Amino acid sequence: MDLYEYQARDLFEKYEVPVLAGIVAETPEEAKAAAEKIGGVVVVKAQVKTGGRGKAGGVKVAKTPEEAYEAAQAILGLDIKGHVVKRVMVAQGARIAQEFYFSVLLDRANRSYLSLCSVEGGMEIEVLAVEKPEALARVEVNPLRGIDKEKAVEIATAANFPAELIEKVSDVFVKLYNVYKGEDATLVEVNPLVLTEEGDVIALDGKVSLDENASEIRHPEHEELEDKDAADPLEAKAKAAGLNYVKLDGEVGIIGNGAGLVMSTLDVVAYAGENHGNVKPANFLDIGGGASATIMAAGLDVILGDEQVKSVFVNVFGGITSCVAVADGIVKALEILGEAASKPLVVRLDGNQVEEGRAILAAANHPLVTLAAGMDEGADKAAALANA
Ligand SMILES: Nc1ncnc2c1ncn2[C@@H]1O[C@H](COP(=O)(O)OP(=O)(O)O)[C@@H](O)[C@H]1O
Ligand SMILES: [Mg+2]
Repeated sequence: MDLYEYQARDLFEKYEVPVLAGIVAETPEEAKAAAEKIGGVVVVKAQVKTGGRGKAGGVKVAKTPEEAYEAAQAILGLDIKGHVVKRVMVAQGARIAQEFYFSVLLDRANRSYLSLCSVEGGMEIEVLAVEKPEALARVEVNPLRGIDKEKAVEIATAANFPAELIEKVSDVFVKLYNVYKGEDATLVEVNPLVLTEEGDVIALDGKVSLDENASEIRHPEHEELEDKDAADPLEAKAKAAGLNYVKLDGEVGIIGNGAGLVMSTLDVVAYAGENHGNVKPANFLDIGGGASATIMAAGLDVILGDEQVKSVFVNVFGGITSCVAVADGIVKALEILGEAASKPLVVRLDGNQVEEGRAILAAANHPLVTLAAGMDEGADKAAALANA
């Protein structure tokens, strides 16, 4: 889960990372009031989960509360890389002497943590990495040791910080690592970390991604950080039912078991769709190992709730689960859903007890259900039905 800048700022504050005052506003009036409260020069910043807000006109300096009002008026509603601005943060203005870059992240490829650091901050890191790779220090961080003071000094030194700044910035690196560790983050990035004219080191922008696997048990408080109004209603419904569902932009609903099978089902359906008016998969849904009637019903319910869906392809490989259980699940799910099940279903079963499973579906003889012998055939039938 990616956080907004203001949420990252609040987490930073909790771990004593130096940040400036910041108040969230949803209207120009609120922005003006926030500017009055903070006093002096402020910066009005679009709160969207994408970088490059500055370049896109989403970060504006305001010298007076009236200017903050105008800045918020200009920024609210702005479309930044497909993200519409609903909130701004009014932040205390810093007098910037220098901009740096610091991040610590999960390095999946090396099964480790990695810190990236540069004395040339402000610029987007992807750009810096390409245009000036020598200015970007990459320091591996042992997850068991983390970033202690010594490691932080190593990072600052690798990034060529001047000797007189190393002490100050390395203190901030340790605190930022405490955020990373303490919150079970997969990324903590500060761009820019600044040195002010007054000589303070401050995190002016923050990007934090939290590991959702840690939310339920280790960090129940993270639920509050979720952006509920931005979530797709179908995804929210699926989440509430404990389903692994991602809404996509197509017409063929997909249910499968196992992420790998579902991913390849998406490919096969997209390919088959090319022969049927370019219909596409409508979602990713992995119902996992069990595939009980309740899970099948919950999955079908979510998929049939998607107005774009015209047909559904159920593609299940019986491994530990037998096809009998899956076929029973489908029959019972259709009973549970009753009238709500209103779109044609193509079912492909294979694996453990496949003959018995198919026999159950054949015997049920549900008017909406078509059996398919293989995955390609099923995808083709489902695509054709979606295009009918
Ligand atoms: N509170 C602030 N005071 C002064 N300047 C700021 C402040 N916040 C951001 N800036 C300036 O605006 C630039 C862009 O802001 P930033 O928060 O990094 O947004 P983004 O990375 O999305 O462009 C920064 O590099 C910095 O120069
Ligand atoms: Mg930035």
